[in-house]
Amino acid sequence: MSSNQMFDDYIPKKKAKTRAYSLCWNSKAKIGFPGVFLFCCLFFLAGFLASNLLSQVSGARQRGRRLESLDYDLMAHGETGDDSISTIPFQVISWRPRAFYFPDFATPAQCQHIIDMAQPKLEPSTVLLAKGETQQPYDVRTSMGTFLSAYEDETGVLDDIEEKIAMATKLPRVNYEAFNVLRYGLGQKYDSHYDVFDPERYGPQKSQRVATFLLYLSDVEGGETAFPFEDSLNMDENYDVKKCIGLKAKPRLGDGLLFYSLFPNNSIDPTSTHGSCPVIKGAKWVATKWIRDEQDF
Ligand SMILES: *[C@@H]1O[C@H](CO)[C@@H](O)[C@H](O)[C@H]1NC(C)=O
Repeated sequence: MSSNQMFDDYIPKKKAKTRAYSLCWNSKAKIGFPGVFLFCCLFFLAGFLASNLLSQVSGARQRGRRLESLDYDLMAHGETGDDSISTIPFQVISWRPRAFYFPDFATPAQCQHIIDMAQPKLEPSTVLLAKGETQQPYDVRTSMGTFLSAYEDETGVLDDIEEKIAMATKLPRVNYEAFNVLRYGLGQKYDSHYDVFDPERYGPQKSQRVATFLLYLSDVEGGETAFPFEDSLNMDENYDVKKCIGLKAKPRLGDGLLFYSLFPNNSIDPTSTHGSCPVIKGAKWVATKWIRDEQDF
C-alpha cells in the first residue's frame, strides 16, 4: 500500500489535494533514485546544520542567563548598602504564624562563644508583669538568662550574628533589643506566651515587639519551640498553656528560627503564641533577639 492510497482512504473528500501531492511525488520519482537520494541527503544536511545553529544560539542565551545569575551584575549601592550579594537559606515552616527556619545560621564556635560570654552572668529569667500582678508568676518561665549587647563583645561575634539577623529579617539593627541568652536545664521550660505586649493586659507600650529571632546554641532533647495555635488550631478556652502541642521546631546547634508577632497591619497575630517545651536531656541554650517597631523601647 503506497502513501497515496493511504491518503485516498483516510481523506476521501480531499481528492484534489491528494492528487497534487501525488503529482509532486511523481515528478520527483522521474528524477530517479540517485536524484532522490541526493535530494534527501541535502535536505538532511540542511536540517542538521540549521538545528545545530539554533541550538548554539539558544545555548549561548542560556549560558548568558546562567552567567547573569551566577556573577550578578552588582547594583550601585548607597552609603549603608553592601558591595556583595547575600544568600541566607531558610525554610518557611508556617505562614500562620509567619515562621521561618534558618539552618546553619551560626557556626558551632560562634555559638560556644556566646554561651561562654553568658554563662557567668546567668540569673533566673523573669516575665513582664501584667496589670494587677505584683510578683513574678510561679513556674511559668523557669530558665536562667542574661542580656548581652553586640558592643560588649570585642571579638565581633555578636556583631556578625546581629548583622546577619538584620539581613535575614530585613529589619534594621537600631530596632533590636540586646540578645537575651537563655539556658534551660533539665525540665525547664517557658509556658506558651506572646512576645508582644497586649496593651489591654500590660498597659500602654512605648513600642512593640514585631518579630523574634531565636538562635539555638546547643543540641538538646526536648526544648522545642512550640506554636500551639499554628494554623489557628487549639485556639479554644480549653487550651492549657503548659501543654506542648502544635507545630514544634526542634532546636539544633547553630540553627535560627524567626517568627513575627504582628500582622502586617500591626495587630497582634494570635497564632504567634509559643512556648519552650521542657528539656528532656542536656541543656537548651538559645540567644533571643527581639525586634521592635520603634527605635526607643
Ligand atoms: C489585621 O490583619 C489580620 C490578618 O489579616 C486580620 O485578621 C485583622 O482583622 C486585621 N485587623 C485590623 C484592625 O484591620
